[in-house]
Amino acid sequence: MSLPSPTAELSNVSIRPMQEADLVEARRIFRVAFGTFLGMPDPEAFGADREYIFTRWRANPEAALVADVKGMLAGSNFATNWGSFGFFGPLTVRPEYWNQHIAQKLLDPTMDLFEKWGVRETGLYTFAHSPKHIGLYQKFGFWPRFLTAIMSKVVIGREAASIKYSALKGGDQDQCLRACRELTGSIYDGLDVTSEIRSVQVQKLGETVLIWGGDSLDAFAVCHGGEGTEAGRNNCYIKFAAVRPGPRVVDEFEHLLDGCEALAAERGWQRMVAGVNLNRSQAYRQLLRGGFRNDILGVAMHRPDSPAYNRPDAFVLDDWR
Ligand SMILES: CC(C)(COP(=O)(O)OP(=O)(O)OC[C@H]1O[C@@H](n2cnc3c(N)ncnc32)[C@H](O)[C@@H]1OP(=O)(O)O)[C@@H](O)C(=O)NCCC(=O)NCCS
Repeated sequence: MSLPSPTAELSNVSIRPMQEADLVEARRIFRVAFGTFLGMPDPEAFGADREYIFTRWRANPEAALVADVKGMLAGSNFATNWGSFGFFGPLTVRPEYWNQHIAQKLLDPTMDLFEKWGVRETGLYTFAHSPKHIGLYQKFGFWPRFLTAIMSKVVIGREAASIKYSALKGGDQDQCLRACRELTGSIYDGLDVTSEIRSVQVQKLGETVLIWGGDSLDAFAVCHGGEGTEAGRNNCYIKFAAVRPGPRVVDEFEHLLDGCEALAAERGWQRMVAGVNLNRSQAYRQLLRGGFRNDILGVAMHRPDSPAYNRPDAFVLDDWR
């Protein structure tokens, strides 16, 4: 099928919720957009062993939007609701249609979703070196703050006492989700990532590692593992982790990282991957001491221009990609 002429068709751009029938093409556009921006020789090979589109749509179809040009998909965007905090991405537009306001048309209803959810602060992760990306998001009130590092290390077999969410019975899982919510709320009021825990469980994307100290939850990590997840082949990706603030936070963070590495070793995943905002300076330095190295650096942009939970005392791992 030949592409309609972009300038002729622009008045026909409509934004609508993503449908199941859009998934394959949305994923192709996601790959080709990033692959083209990054100058890959075969753009469609970008992230071939990782999955965002199918899994995020399944997790919350209401939060997935597509741009449609006369029945042809031109781009998509996803919003994520973490209780009092929201972020968006991956946002991708078919390269033939770049610089014709499609991203902005997708971002307007994305901001409406945040409004509807009543989130207090919002953010995103983007390319720190791209004037286009920074300029685009500034138009929507997002401001660049600290870098976020995507880090990794080789998995070495570890011993660590931890509990797996998947091993809990129904009632215990509900209690555990309440404990996770309470823990993240103690770091940032209303922060709630239980949708990620459920999604990992239901879609079989990996595992949630739990560190209990008696009756109280000290730390947890939501991990994706392997192909067809956000981790990619042979990787264990810590999508979100948090440690309860307090005098034992450093030890518990180490315990949690060991628990994640033990999980990876058990499943045969060879590399640990985790993202951390560099203003979470204590956690970042502890990752460096633990052998993690920076692979990719991006920038966190915040709306409003305030730190949210990207603070030196927050032992949180995530990257808002
Ligand atoms: C990034 C991407 C989604 C943008 O989509 P797009 O449809 O081309 O973007 P739009 O046309 O809506 O907006 C472009 C805006 O960038 C901004 N911009 C571009 N160059 C700029 C510069 N040098 N300085 C400041 N702002 C600039 C402008 O605000 C411009 O809008 P304007 O012309 O109305 O002022 C698209 O290029 C893409 O898919 N890239 C590859 C994947 C990717 O990087 N995704 C985002 C990851 S965070």
